[in-house]
Formats: sequence, C-alpha cells, structure tokens
Amino acid sequence: MDAEIVILPDAQALAREAAQRFADLAREAAESRGRFSAVLSGGSTPAPTYRLLAEEPWRSLVPWAAVHLFWGDERCVPPDDPESNYHLADAALISRVPLPPENIHRMQAALGPKAASDLYEEALVDYFCGPWPRFDLVLLGVGEDGHTASLFPGSPALQEAERLALPAEARYQNRPAQRVTLTLPALNSARQVLFLVSGEAKAGIVQAILEGPEGDYPAQRIQPAAGELTWLLDQPAASRLRKKQD
Ligand code: 6PG
Repeated sequence: MDAEIVILPDAQALAREAAQRFADLAREAAESRGRFSAVLSGGSTPAPTYRLLAEEPWRSLVPWAAVHLFWGDERCVPPDDPESNYHLADAALISRVPLPPENIHRMQAALGPKAASDLYEEALVDYFCGPWPRFDLVLLGVGEDGHTASLFPGSPALQEAERLALPAEARYQNRPAQRVTLTLPALNSARQVLFLVSGEAKAGIVQAILEGPEGDYPAQRIQPAAGELTWLLDQPAASRLRKKQD
C-alpha cells in the first residue's frame, strides 16, 4: 500500500500530531482556496484530537471561519445521543470553537438511512457545485475487522462507483447498526486522508492492512486517486508491523 506511515509514542502524541496536521492543512486550504473541508470520523479514537483542536496552541492556529465540517459516517440516532458521531465532535470540539453554524454539515441520520443518505448526497453536490467532491482532509479510523467509516467487510456499499453517501448496516461491537456512510468515491476524492489508529487491540488489523495482501479489508480500498494517504499510529497499534518505519 502506498502510504506514509508515522508512528507516535502514545495516544496523546498521536492526538497532538493529528491536531497539528489538521491546523496546517486548514491554514493552507484557507489561504489558497478560501475554505477548508474536513471529514470527521467517529468512534473513540479521534476524541483526543478534537479536544486538542479546541485548546491552545491549535485553537488559535485554525481559521475557524473558513472550516467546513462533514462526517464520514453517522449512526441513525438523534444528534444528542451519546452514540452519535456528531455528538462526539460537538462535545469535544464544535461547542468550544468559533465555527459558524452554517459550516457544520451534519448527517441527519435520525431521519433513517435512506432519507439521510439522499439528503447528504444533495448537500455534498451543493457544497462542491457538482457530483465530484474534493475534500481537503478526510479523517478515518479503522475497526478490528478492517472497516472504515461505515464500510464494513462484505458491504454492498463497497461496490458503489457513483453515489457519495449510502445507507449502511453495522455489526460491530454493540454499536448502533443502522448507519449512513460516505462511499469510496467520496472518501477517495480527498487531497489528504489521515487514518488515526491507537491501541494494542488494533495491532493485528494494522499489520494485516498495511503488510498483508491487498483488497481483503475495506480500509485497504482507501486510496485517494489524487491525494495523500497517511496512517498515524501510536506505538501499541504499530507493534505488530514487521517493516520498521524510518
Ligand atoms: C464509527 C466510526 C468507525 C470507527 C471505527 C474505529 O462510526 O464507529 O466512524 O469507522 O472509526 O469503528 O472506532 P474506534 O476509534 O472506537 O476504535
């Protein structure tokens, strides 16, 4: 897999590195294109990064008025539900920074997978003024089964070549099953994809994805056509990698 692999000593160092990269990319996008589109991931891993972005020095580095937030996936629960990916970002970041409300492009997943994915498709076409998005940054996590966003192994959404958002179904830990997810065409449109992976429990899947045969896992299908792919790992998550990174 053609990816930059960066190994940090621990989860806090990973969060600091991710926050710094977010801030750097946001400044570059705002200066050169007037706005910065970032896709947030859910689950537990990104929360420390979201919290750091609301704190100095990163809070002052980010041009919040130019930042537009999107989601890679969402559970079909109300936005104030603790299981909501929006709720995670709102508590850790959105409620703590001067982000214009119109810049928050939430998946209205409580409407149900079909209605919410159709609405999100329209919102993306509207934002990008056409059917081909070009996110400046896509943050992703990976599950122990190799899923990313809500693209799970065997999901029909993995075959989608045109739609940007689709309904999805999860069977993962005891997390909500009904989902909305961005598709591979949407995720792979990014200028920069940044996987954030932390903890010993992910060491096996990280090794399989980064050093195993291509194609077995949804996370391996994340290959930005005209962008950069980076895996930020903490030492425990990288502990089973055979190739030592420089
Ligand atoms: C979700 C996420 C999902 C997540 C992985 C890893 O809605 O659950 O978008 O893709 O990134 O499941 O989750 P953890 O960070 O909690 O391990």
